[in-house]
Amino acid sequence: MLNKISRRTLARILGGSTTALSLSATARAASFFGSPSSPAHADRLFPQGFLWGSATASYQVEGAVHEDGRGPSIWDTFAHTAGKTHNGDTGDVSDDFFHHYKRDIELMKELGLKTFRFSIAWSRVFPSGTGQPNPHGLDFYHRMIDALLEAGIEPFCTLYHWDLPQPLQDRGGWENKDTAKAFADYAGYTAGKLSSKVRRFMTMNEMRTFVELGYGLGSHAPGLKLNQKRLAQLTHNVVLGHGLAVQAIRAQTKPGIEIGIADNVLATVPVYESTAQIEAARKAMREENAMYLTVLQEGRYTDLYLERLGQDAPNFTPQEMKTIASPLDFIGLNIYQPTYIRTDDSRQGYAIVPSPSSYPHMLSPWITIGPEALYWAPRLITELWKAKALYITENGTSSADQLAPDAQVYDTDRVMFLRNYLTQLQRAVAEGIPVKGYFLWSLLDNFEWADGYEKRFGITYVDFTTQKRTPKLSAAFYKEVIQKNAVC
Ligand code: FCB
Repeated sequence: MLNKISRRTLARILGGSTTALSLSATARAASFFGSPSSPAHADRLFPQGFLWGSATASYQVEGAVHEDGRGPSIWDTFAHTAGKTHNGDTGDVSDDFFHHYKRDIELMKELGLKTFRFSIAWSRVFPSGTGQPNPHGLDFYHRMIDALLEAGIEPFCTLYHWDLPQPLQDRGGWENKDTAKAFADYAGYTAGKLSSKVRRFMTMNEMRTFVELGYGLGSHAPGLKLNQKRLAQLTHNVVLGHGLAVQAIRAQTKPGIEIGIADNVLATVPVYESTAQIEAARKAMREENAMYLTVLQEGRYTDLYLERLGQDAPNFTPQEMKTIASPLDFIGLNIYQPTYIRTDDSRQGYAIVPSPSSYPHMLSPWITIGPEALYWAPRLITELWKAKALYITENGTSSADQLAPDAQVYDTDRVMFLRNYLTQLQRAVAEGIPVKGYFLWSLLDNFEWADGYEKRFGITYVDFTTQKRTPKLSAAFYKEVIQKNAVC
């Protein structure tokens, strides 16, 4: 009814002008919420020292695929295979971060970033995956890390963001247990060389994505469609590779180095906040992530997971299970969208609620909007496994960004998305959940895997022909958040 009455008519009914109405409303609000001049963000602060960052990955930004002796990775092969990526796009040049890193670190400084998450291309360090290291393999990373440190920005290093050296895939990739060992050798060597400058390392990025899209659905590199049995064994080899890498990094670095993972847990969210629904979401967090974060935390596969697989369950030894659960210093979470959970009478005690077709999403259809995921995932993980430290290692969105006539990009949908997700993250830290930092995906528009350059995720617009960078409205928003250490 109210919205059928114009503001002017409403003012007349209430006996004043519209201006008088809004002034008296402001005065009333002030008496409830404090002085009208107190900043709106005062109650949405993050803890002091909260690490505001941004994340990228080697193949998505670096380009320079033939420089300094880099060997081919499965993403070079896949992107160069007809029909695999949007428009046949490849990461051959992308943001050319390899050559423009200094300018991009200036952008980071301008934003006030405290930390920057990047990944190392394994095939720069070991061009064929194993054997002799390339003497120039780490040169670029040393240069880039030095520039970060000079700018007062802490480097956060991921050792594997999906770009497996092609020669290892030729010998079976993650289906072959030797790959897990090769990964540990590479991770230990690399962390050892960088640990005088880098304090925090992550073994892998999003195990679930590269396993399920790369080897199950075939929509990511290496584009295979394995059956359930082979996929379950491969998944086991991946978590084993993670555990072996944790041990190798510890063995080759001095005490004080922190090791974690950037994992995309299925972020379970109760359909509403009652005790029973919350309990269902907690059970689902453990069970739905049984073969990834749960086994890393508990050193065993859940009974339900093994029962469900039956004869397709992986082979494993008790020693391997111990290795998989090597203690971590922090858990990184990549969270974009929620998975809603309700109570259910079944043995598992919960059910996943499929989204109705009207459920809102961002430009990428997979990014359904559910800011509460940034509250519930950290909370449930803390409750389940007493996590000491958590980071949101990725969160962000694609948007149909366009340069406006004034050459600016007004990505109000991205700002809306970030503001709402950060509000829920602030709720978590205000309750004492130990989230220590947040990495926005991403600093720059970049090569978005099978979506090529079609989906832009940056808070900085990139013209891929000229390499010109234009900070978007969301960059101004993020700068303000960092400066105030609060949602605004
Ligand atoms: C995540 C990936 C990251 C990027 C974002 C949009 O799944 O880790 O590389 O593609 O999605």
